[in-house]
Amino acid sequence: MESGAGSGLRIGVIGCGTISATYMRNARLFAGVEMRACADISADMAAQRAAEYGLTAMSVDTLLADPEIDLILNLTVPNVHFDISQSALAAGKHVFTEKPLAASFAEGKRLVEEAQRRGLRIGSAPDTFLGAAGRRARKLVDDGAIGRPVSGTAFMFGRGMEHWHPNPQFFYQPGGGPVLDMGPYYLTMLVNLLGPVRSVVALTTRGREERLITAEGPFKNKMFPVETPTTALSLLEFENGALVNFGASWDVFRHSNHPIELHGTEGSLRLPDPDTFGGTVSLSSAGADWADFDSETAPYGAHNWPHAAPDRANYRMLGVADLARAITEGRPARAEGDLALHVLEIMEAILHSGETRSSVSLSTRIERPNALGKDEARSFLA
Ligand SMILES: NC(=O)c1ccc[n+]([C@@H]2O[C@H](COP(=O)([O-])OP(=O)(O)OC[C@H]3O[C@@H](n4cnc5c(N)ncnc54)[C@H](O)[C@@H]3O)[C@@H](O)[C@H]2O)c1
Repeated sequence: MESGAGSGLRIGVIGCGTISATYMRNARLFAGVEMRACADISADMAAQRAAEYGLTAMSVDTLLADPEIDLILNLTVPNVHFDISQSALAAGKHVFTEKPLAASFAEGKRLVEEAQRRGLRIGSAPDTFLGAAGRRARKLVDDGAIGRPVSGTAFMFGRGMEHWHPNPQFFYQPGGGPVLDMGPYYLTMLVNLLGPVRSVVALTTRGREERLITAEGPFKNKMFPVETPTTALSLLEFENGALVNFGASWDVFRHSNHPIELHGTEGSLRLPDPDTFGGTVSLSSAGADWADFDSETAPYGAHNWPHAAPDRANYRMLGVADLARAITEGRPARAEGDLALHVLEIMEAILHSGETRSSVSLSTRIERPNALGKDEARSFLA
């Protein structure tokens, strides 16, 4: 099976686990990127993905040293992101990494600075904010449809991981938890719409000190300890003055909150799950009934996912395609490292505020990514 468009930025994947199949499958949708090779600490995983997607399997070191690779797509687990991205930059490669950018703000900052020092680029997931729903919401906000944003809510609530994941312990250790694992989708979307966050206050707790694995697998019916907060309720103050209540919890069985709502001086905006590229955006102008904007016919809005979640629009790789063109054009990418670093600082601030019960001011100040119009979005397709 052939992957990629046959020319463009030459990509090597490191980390051939679950999410790699998504990127490898999607790569062929895009022009300007050519997925060539893959590596994993497990040679078997690399060989399997290489066979499935027509790539060349290599060892990690061989891939990093390959002069025919321009960019390393880092799809390893979060606590390995820093080492792999750092090695890739040291080898003279551009990087695009799965979220989070690194396990800590300090490490993320080192990566962004290292890329700048070397004249290389580092981009990061999520790129879901560039999907049909995110673009629609951004245009409505930029066109003044809700006036000046004043307040909002964002809720990532769920029951956790141990009912479906056979090996869920790492989600509940420091570096895991709902804020770091799922926060990037919500916070990247919010920063894309409202601009940077100035300060954070939060309280955190955990619903259980131990959890029971009920998923099938070697640990079924085993208890394990919870070592990081599993519920965080935070208040984000944006530079533009807007206040957003962001909740992230794995202690919730069922709820009725919308993923994201924003309220301004002229109206209200409702967004779908920011972990997808599609979904319905709704606008109420000055209290009128919700007007719905469906994503199905817009670029990157159609459901395309036959596997685990058939209700999903999943175009991961869009951010990589934008980064590839940004390198050619010498412009900032949308899912650039500075955005991911700001989001990482927000997440760390939420956890730190929860520990210290005090307000945390952020040090990073970023520009919003350039809005992505429909025509430019479509132009990334092969
Ligand atoms: N699974 C999902 O649905 C999903 C969705 C969005 C984002 N992500 C993100 O993608 C990343 C990977 O998640 P995943 O679910 O694919 O994990 P996974 O455990 O299925 O795959 C990770 C792969 O990285 C490899 N790896 C680990 N350390 C390595 C090293 N030092 N060198 C080379 N390879 C190494 C592992 O062998 C494994 O094959 C995470 O950052 C996660 O947050 C996952």
